[in-house]
Order: sequence, then structure tokens, then C-alpha cells
Amino acid sequence: MGVLRGPLVAIGAGAFVICVAVGSPASAQTPSSSAQPTFAKDVAPILQRACQNCHRPGSVAPMSLLTYQDSRPWARSIKAKVAAREMPPWHIDRNVGITKFKDDPSLTDAEIATIVTWVDAGAPQGNPADLPKPREFSDLDAWYIGKPDLVVEMKKPYILPPNGPDNIVDVMVDPGFTEDMYVMAIESKPADPRSFKVVHHFTTNLVEDPDEDPTGLFLNEYALGKNGDIFPPNSGRLIKAGTKINFNLHLNPRGEETPVSVKLGLKVFPRGQVPKYVAFTQHMGDAPELDIPPGQIARHDGYFRLPRPALVASFQPHMHNRGKAMCMEAIYPDVRADSARPGPARVETISCVSNYQFGWHITYPYADDVAPLLPAGTIVHITSWHDNTQNNRWNPNPKNWVGGGSRSIDEMSFAWVTITYLEEADFKQRVAERAKAARTSQQQQ
Ligand code: HEC
Repeated sequence: MGVLRGPLVAIGAGAFVICVAVGSPASAQTPSSSAQPTFAKDVAPILQRACQNCHRPGSVAPMSLLTYQDSRPWARSIKAKVAAREMPPWHIDRNVGITKFKDDPSLTDAEIATIVTWVDAGAPQGNPADLPKPREFSDLDAWYIGKPDLVVEMKKPYILPPNGPDNIVDVMVDPGFTEDMYVMAIESKPADPRSFKVVHHFTTNLVEDPDEDPTGLFLNEYALGKNGDIFPPNSGRLIKAGTKINFNLHLNPRGEETPVSVKLGLKVFPRGQVPKYVAFTQHMGDAPELDIPPGQIARHDGYFRLPRPALVASFQPHMHNRGKAMCMEAIYPDVRADSARPGPARVETISCVSNYQFGWHITYPYADDVAPLLPAGTIVHITSWHDNTQNNRWNPNPKNWVGGGSRSIDEMSFAWVTITYLEEADFKQRVAERAKAARTSQQQQ
């Protein structure tokens, strides 16, 4: 823990005008609970909002939390998971950096207290007349990004053998795109429940010319629990006519032969409409060599220099079993570089995931009014911590030295960061607008 403390608490207080951290998740308005919470009155509404999308028959979670009868046997486990903020999966540090996100499912402290008090009192049902109306769900296949305009699917499933090591497979699909298009949102996922069980993660790449560049350009990534990438307003990603999609699948055999299929959903701008900004998702802060000694917590650092001013739309740490925490901070260019006494560098923490849970690859999308605006020359600094001790319950073997690699027993350390580069004038205007909004809200307080 000692390694974590410093960086996680020391920074973040000095809010630079560029990305003021304000507000709290929308759910903060939830009324505080009555003294004796019951399932019907107090707990069911929380489960509806934050749990049932996954905890219902056929969805990704192991059990249903739709009714009192479903939920009651899990009461103790529910208390433990919500109190540790492991459920719902949303592991961003709420006390550091930006705290306002789009679609934040996390529970408020008051909601957690309600659940804990309810369980401690024996998890009473209360009066069934108090139950809220059951939540209605779209079908299981529902897309987080909304109904896609286009879905690209593998032509035929890949047959994964029952046993053996991690299986890494490339499947190229020609979707027959006949014209250029700009994508406003992307989501990829396994195509059926069987595939959900064996797909560790997969990436999609745009292959414009298989002879010239067979790897192509990174488009997005799916991993268990991941939602999707929605670009900021008026931003799109160009996919050229004739582009092929390469699925790079990372599969874990689970004891039975499994036909695996995955799909990619795209929402696109109407034909002929060209968005003002081009957004893309960038690998940032890869640590060049990982050195994770047995029984220790290891820290690594990686850097990415922004060549132009940028708007950062989202952050997603990527590590494997031993991942413990990751922070993203901005090291700003020195505005007084010409002065006789330059520096010190201004540094600001943007986000930390301080409770990283392997298996949950969550994209944290910043609310539009606080999404970081970073000047050209800013260095995005990614710090990661890997826990190779026996305290990490995901650790396959705390006696092993671990290095970098793509198998799940190796480690990785980088962030997927969705950004849009801005023209200098546009950037300055946005910074000025932010500063003005911050002044106005200060005056109102
Ligand atoms: C995004 C999907 C998702 C959401 C939202 C979600 N869960 Fe889960 N939950 C899972 C999955 C998948 C598991 C299986 C274990 C894992 O992968 O962590 C799980 C496991 C659990 C477990 C442990 C079950 C066991 O086997 O011991 C509990 C308890 C739980 N969830 C409660 C909740 C509660 C309470 C909420 C809402 C406050 C919630 N979950 C929200 C997907 C979700």
C-alpha cells in the first residue's frame, strides 16, 4: 500500500482552470433512506438502477437480482460487494481528479449505507405494496451505444478447442463498405452467450490496404464488462470505403469445444455529413519494460506527448491479473519557458482507477463540460501499479516474476485514451468558455 499512497492522495487538489473537477454523479440526488430500510421501499430501486441490467436471467452476471426472492440469498455477498465498491463495476477513484462522467452507474455513499443497514437488519422484505414498478429492459442483445446503423459480424464462427493455452486468433472480415463514413459511436461484443464465456478480450482494427499494412489502424477493444466508445458531439472517426475489419480475438478455452463469434456495431453520421472533429482511441503510456518481482507491488511509468491541443473524451486502464491501480496525469508545458526562472512543471491528476478489478475493462467517459482540454506539448503520464503479492486474489502465482506480454498470465500497462485534436483557436476558445463557466458557478455559490 505504501507505494500507492503518495501519488493517489498528494495530487489533484490544485484544480487548473483547464479541467476543473466539479459536481458529483447524477445519482447523488437519491434521497437518503429511512431509518429501517426494506427491500420493497429502499433497496429495490437501487438494484433496478445499478444492478439488474447485468443481474437478470441470461445476462452476464451469475445470478438474478430482479425480485426479493432472487436477491435475499445473496444479501451478505451484496453487502460485501457494494461496500467494497466492487459492484456495480465502476472502479474509478471518486476522490481524485475528474468526478463527473457520462452514464455513471456507481452508488452514492447513502445508497451503500442503505444496503448495508438493510442487510445488517436481516434483509427484511417490507411491504410489497412499496415495490417500484419492475424495470423494463430492451432485449439482452441490447447495445450500450443505442441501435447501431451497421453491424459487422464474423462470417462463420471460429471453433475454439476445449483445452490448451490462451488462443489468439485473427479473423479478417470484408463488410463491403462502398463509401466513406464517419462513425459517432462504436461497440463490440461476443455475438452469443457461449462466446461471452470464452472471449477474454478482442480488438478491432481497420485494414485499408492488407498488402501495405496488414495490421491496420486500431478501432476499439472489447473486454468483459466493457460498454462502448461514444465520441464527443460533432466528432467522428473516418472509415474509408473498402476498409476491412480485423478482429483479433483473445480466447480462454473452458473445457468444451466452443464456436466463437463476435460482432461490431457502428453508429454513423448521415451520408454526406462530415463532422467537425476527428476522434480516435490512442494507446498511451505503454511502459517499455515491465519488471514485477515476486511478492511485491511494482510501479511503472509511461508517457505520451500531445503534438497538438487535444480534448480527452475517455480513459480506460489496461492491465491483467496483477493490475492494482492506474493513474493518468497531465504534465503541462512550461508557460514560462523563456523566463529566467522556468518551472516547476504544473502537474494535474486527471483520473485514477485505484481499485482496479481484473476482468472489468471499463471505459470512463468524461462528461462534456469537464472533459480535459490539454494544450499542445502536454505530456500524458500513465502510472500503473501491479500487485504481485498473495493479497491479490487474482494472482495466479505470487512466487513468479512477471514481465510484459499479451497472455493473461503476463502483464500489460497502458491506457486506451479517446482524444480529438483541436485547432489552436478552437482550443483557446474552449478554455476561455470553461474559465467563464467556472467563474459564473463560483459567483453563484
Ligand atoms: C456490468 C454488469 C454488472 C452490474 C451493473 C452489476 N453486476 Fe454484480 N456481477 C456481475 C458479474 C459478471 C459478476 C460475476 C463475478 C465478476 O465478474 O466479478 C457479478 C458478481 C456479483 C456478486 C458476487 C456473486 C458471487 O458469486 O458471489 C454480487 C453479490 C453482485 N454481483 C452484486 C451486484 C449488485 C448489488 C449490483 C448493483 C449495485 C451489481 N452486482 C451490479 C455483473 C454486474
